[in-house]
Amino acid sequence: MIARTIPFDGLTIAYDDRVLAPRPWTVVQSRWGAELAERVPPGPILELFAGAGHIGLDAAVRAGRPLVQVDADPVACELAAYNAAAASRRTVEVRCRPVDRALDPGERFPLILADPPYLTAAEVDRYPDDPRHAVDGGPDGLAVVRPCLQVIDEGLAPGGVALLQLRGRAQAEAVAAELPGGLRAGAVREVDDERAVLRVDRLPVSSGPRPPVSPLARPAAGRRAVDEVSMPLGVG
Ligand SMILES: C[S@@+](CC[C@H](N)C(=O)[O-])C[C@H]1O[C@@H](n2cnc3c(N)ncnc32)[C@H](O)[C@@H]1O
Repeated sequence: MIARTIPFDGLTIAYDDRVLAPRPWTVVQSRWGAELAERVPPGPILELFAGAGHIGLDAAVRAGRPLVQVDADPVACELAAYNAAAASRRTVEVRCRPVDRALDPGERFPLILADPPYLTAAEVDRYPDDPRHAVDGGPDGLAVVRPCLQVIDEGLAPGGVALLQLRGRAQAEAVAAELPGGLRAGAVREVDDERAVLRVDRLPVSSGPRPPVSPLARPAAGRRAVDEVSMPLGVG
């Protein structure tokens, strides 16, 4: 089944043409996840839209945490399980389910990584090598992001953090404006206009009035937020 492998932050990741090819820049999300894992409550990492599984796997290896990976595509799930085994991770559970059934009853996770399809349907043809089911986000690019936000709202533990991969800062701002009431947008780490990761925090439960929605944290003028992260760019 395995057609190719690619190195990813010290891991060797297998994939083939039926899934999205792992994009080296997404190490931004893995490394940020591992960084946050040092501060969030204990428990497994949840990765939504895992594909071949490299983003969550890298974060879990670095953080030394168990991992639950979810994808609706059986081929992606098989590859994610293969890659976890190849990395000798015995604490990885792969769930082959649509995102709206990702959580078992009552489950809460301290750290959620999500990489939903986020292109608009109109621009999918610009990426002929990418399987449509992996990248097509519907008319406005947010058709799958919205149910993903519901899962984050339901599944993010108190004190927990989610990192959501999106199509640049503009889409991150659109998503920040649509967050369910229990969530708050945090910083964005931005590679370029088409590639970014948005931090989302669980608001503390309080009986008082809701605090105002904070604007997204912006990097200093002329500087990309991702400059904070040491990573090779230019591919993917
Ligand atoms: C943008 S790809 C990300 C894959 C992987 N994280 C990567 O970086 O290559 C989106 C993934 O979401 C899966 N997917 C699409 N719609 C889904 C849904 N409604 N529920 C669960 N998974 C879905 C696809 O099978 C695909 O693997």
